[in-house]
Amino acid sequence: MSDDPAVRRLADWNAERLRDLADRHATPTYVLDLNRVRENATRLRGAFPDADVAYAVKANTTRAVLETLEAEGVDAECAAAGEVKRALDAGFPGERIRYTAVNPPDRDLDYIGEVGRAHDIVVTVGARDTLDRLAERGYEGRLCVRVNPGVGAGHHAKVSTGAEPKFGVPYDRAGEVVDAAREVGEVVGIHAHAGSGISGDDLAAHRELVSRMGELAREVGDLEFVAVGGGFGVPYRETEPPLDLDRVADATRDALGEVDARLAIEPGRYFVADAGVLLSTVNTVKETPETTVVGIDAGMTTLLRPALYDAYHAVRSLAPDADDRPTESVELAGPVCETADVLARDRPLAAPERGDHLAVGNAGAYGYEMASNYNSRPRPAVVALDGGDDRLVARREDLTDITELERW
Ligand code: LLP
Repeated sequence: MSDDPAVRRLADWNAERLRDLADRHATPTYVLDLNRVRENATRLRGAFPDADVAYAVKANTTRAVLETLEAEGVDAECAAAGEVKRALDAGFPGERIRYTAVNPPDRDLDYIGEVGRAHDIVVTVGARDTLDRLAERGYEGRLCVRVNPGVGAGHHAKVSTGAEPKFGVPYDRAGEVVDAAREVGEVVGIHAHAGSGISGDDLAAHRELVSRMGELAREVGDLEFVAVGGGFGVPYRETEPPLDLDRVADATRDALGEVDARLAIEPGRYFVADAGVLLSTVNTVKETPETTVVGIDAGMTTLLRPALYDAYHAVRSLAPDADDRPTESVELAGPVCETADVLARDRPLAAPERGDHLAVGNAGAYGYEMASNYNSRPRPAVVALDGGDDRLVARREDLTDITELERW
């Protein structure tokens, strides 16, 4: 295996180290390997050497990840005022931050009006009236117009964005909105995003989006960048091949055509997904006529993706004798009182026993980030690995945290 393989599979993680982390930090706990985040950044920049590469921070806003990617020279793409604040706190200079406003609440725009101006961040608007609302706040800074390219793609209908009317201004009105934006501030870019979890099969949709953006860039002229979104998929199934980044990069350059502006990309998942695993512990093993139900301490409040998108995540037993145990087909169920709270069904696993630790793969993106307190469950801990070192970067919540905000 090369030092920088295109994907890190769950089987590549050292079981003994993960077991030790589970013993020391208890579970459920997310583990993030910062070296793998760096490797992913290097591979992306290698495939897109002439592009502005940003990290869509929504995939994982842990300070450790943000500081790591800031140091790698990657930019930050933010979807909310809170994300902009996190990026600034992590040391991203304002000129390397883009804020993509999606139906922004007044509170977000108040913050951006002030902080955005002070730090020279780029504000991407996806509606004409967002421009008016910025102008009302005296914003005269750098702007980008988000376009609805009319083509979407992604791993699930719920994350296909490009053809959803919610996002961006309709393609055939984009020119008008760019003109209007030029009255408010300095238009430095145009932007579109097809969706999330794009695989090699979606390359045609990606090409179409990029080619439309190239056309628009030539029409409106005088831009610094053309942002074609993120959404680069990762193989969640062990048998799925990794995305051929060079092929995506070639297709992107080819589809964009001649433009007098830099290409900009903004993946989130690709930087962090395979840099993270979720550690969990088996608490109940129940034989039923239909299946063996394996109750674990990580549920939909820890990792929402299976419940929300029917997402597949690899699972592996960390029991020291796992290789000697027979394989059983099991249902892995969380502790939340809701039918959707099932991590996997009909999943082959080394016959589980109470107290076994399990590892869930590809959990670095949209895992901790989408954790919630539903069922009054405390959110898990996060531990970052850096070489041989590990440190707690988010402590586990406790029952006091759960009621802390309440007033009566
Ligand atoms: N740029 C924009 C404008 C986006 O809306 C997104 C994701 C990204 C970039 C980054 O997409 P990525 O490279 O991470 O796929 N929670 C879902 C994913 C929702 C993504 C929303 N927007 C999941 O767990 O699959």
